[in-house]
Amino acid sequence: MSERVGAEVWLKLEGANPTGSFKDRGMTCAVSAAVREGAEAVICASTGNTAASAAAYAARAGLTGAVIVPEGKIATGKLAQALMHGARVIALRGNFDEALALVRELAQRHPIALVNSVNAFRLEGQKTAAFELVDELGELDALCIPVGNAGNITAYWKGFEESGVRPRMLGWQAEGAAPLVHGAPVEQPETVASAIRIGNPARWEEAMGAMAASHGAIRAVSDAEILDAYRFLAAHEGVFCEPASAAGVAGLLKHGAEDAGRVVCVLTGHGLKDPQTALARAGSVVPCEPDLPAVEQAVLG
Ligand code: F0G
Repeated sequence: MSERVGAEVWLKLEGANPTGSFKDRGMTCAVSAAVREGAEAVICASTGNTAASAAAYAARAGLTGAVIVPEGKIATGKLAQALMHGARVIALRGNFDEALALVRELAQRHPIALVNSVNAFRLEGQKTAAFELVDELGELDALCIPVGNAGNITAYWKGFEESGVRPRMLGWQAEGAAPLVHGAPVEQPETVASAIRIGNPARWEEAMGAMAASHGAIRAVSDAEILDAYRFLAAHEGVFCEPASAAGVAGLLKHGAEDAGRVVCVLTGHGLKDPQTALARAGSVVPCEPDLPAVEQAVLG
């Protein structure tokens, strides 16, 4: 990455968290707070990762977990996680934005804790990623981060401000789901990066505030650019992230580092979350008979 971009580029691997995405940082706080407040259940709308994380932390806390996901639009690994952790998984015939509006209402009517990033505890947990960067690197000039519901960019900026380090916040949306770039909600968001298939981010104002205060930018990258970056990371860096996570890298590869000397790209979720996209975009396996000449041919040929 660094050679190609002409800057010192660091990748922050959030796929190494317990459920394979950055969501765990905030979810452990939000679920702990829910327990303290006496909640018996937690709920969220999700494009998949929040659901997997909420389900896991709810299971550990002995709470009922319910997750509402857009039907047919979440990656297989995330669905498997939510189901394995025993959450009630509701497949909504609608998109993430509709799901979020519904869970917000539901949480007002019933004693159920809402654990989407509209919950302040989520941001408090997630800002620790910025603290880690400051601890490890001291200074950095820019942060490239994918933006969906805009909680994470908000949390990072909060963490940086509290640390007194102010990198430029470069947020990246998928072209078909880029409300912050267009300045208006997108009714029917579409992108291969299903995690950020969001048309009306809850943390809209905060994300724009972080961008302005840090002299950063929020821009869009195409699905093709996202997939190129996704493959590049796997093939050249040995890092397998999910497609949405590659949006920041796609942006950096497209726009360059400009005058930044040290840039961090946040890889928000693990590639194993979405095996179907990987298998559809990667090379195919080589079938082989179990004898030496055949294996020689298969390996060397
Ligand atoms: N990357 C991944 C892998 C995500 O799952 C998400 C959000 C983002 C980036 C964007 O973060 O929403 O804070 O701007 N996923 C949410 C979910 C919406 O339901 O799992 P954001």
